Parts: sequence; structure tokens; C-alpha cells
Amino acid sequence: MTTLARLITLGCTGLLATLPAFANSAAQDEAMIKLATGSGCMTCHHVDPGAKGPEGLPPIGPAWRDVAAKYRGDKAAQGKLTQAVLKGSNPYDSHWKGKASGLAMPPNAVAIKEAEAKKLVGWILQLQPK
Ligand code: HEC
Repeated sequence: MTTLARLITLGCTGLLATLPAFANSAAQDEAMIKLATGSGCMTCHHVDPGAKGPEGLPPIGPAWRDVAAKYRGDKAAQGKLTQAVLKGSNPYDSHWKGKASGLAMPPNAVAIKEAEAKKLVGWILQLQPK
């Protein structure tokens, strides 16, 4: 094998090896939806955009694929959003005005542990647009 061919082969193998790190696996999807449902998140959130909330209004909270798109590339997002999930969000500084019918998210620390919230937010941030 020429050095060039070897380099290309190595490059491709490397790419394949890193791919799973950028997408959620089906098993992860299932576990995280279960965690989110058990923690009450799905009362206000959907994974996919377009779903309506009560009485045909926009959904109470933003769709999680939209959350992923908004914070894509923001390295501080997992930490910030984990705290927002645990402590709730500021109704005077809504990040989702017009896209969600709820003004603010209530604190969820009673429903979910910090480590699990962090895992769930990490999964949300890896969601890809459909
Ligand atoms: C009672 C309704 C409600 C529940 C329950 C709820 N949320 Fe929210 N969530 C909201 C609303 C409303 C917003 C939009 C807040 C805003 O506009 O800044 C939001 C925003 C978010 C955001 C984006 C925050 C931002 O600053 O952009 C994330 C991430 C999120 N929720 C995750 C969760 C998770 C995880 C759970 C479950 C542990 C959960 N939510 C439970 C209503 C809810």
C-alpha cells in the first residue's frame, strides 16, 4: 500500500470510529425518553417541532430538536441548560418567546437528580434536525 492510500484508509477508519459520538443511539433514545417521561418533562415538551400544545396554542415548552439547533456549537450549553432545568427559567427573560406558550420553565429539581438532568440535556443537545 502506498503511504497516501494508507493515510486515506486511516482517515476513514478514524472518521467512522468518531461518528457514534455525534449521534444518539436507539438505546440511548429509548432510555432518555423514559427518563424524561418519568421526570414529567414530556407534559410540556415534545422532541419534534410542529406539535401543538393545549387548545391549539404553541406547545408549552420548546421542541427539543429546536433546543439542539439553537445551542449547537455552544460549549457552555450543557451546564447552563442543566441549571435551567433544575432551577427553572426566568419569566422576564424568556428564550423561547413566540415559539412556546409557557413563559418560563418551573424548577424540576424535585423530579430529577442533577446527574440525570445533565445526561438528559446532553442527549437533547445531540438531537439532529429531521
Ligand atoms: C411545566 C412545563 C415544563 C416542564 C415540566 C419542563 N419544562 Fe423545559 N421548558 C418549559 C418552558 C416554558 C421553556 C421555555 C423557557 C424560556 O422561554 O426561556 C422550557 C425550556 C427548556 C429548555 C431550554 C432552556 C433555554 O434556556 O433555552 C430545556 C433544555 C428544557 N426546557 C428541558 C426540560 C427538561 C429536561 C425537563 C424535565 C426534567 C423539562 N424541561 C420540564 C416548560 C417545561
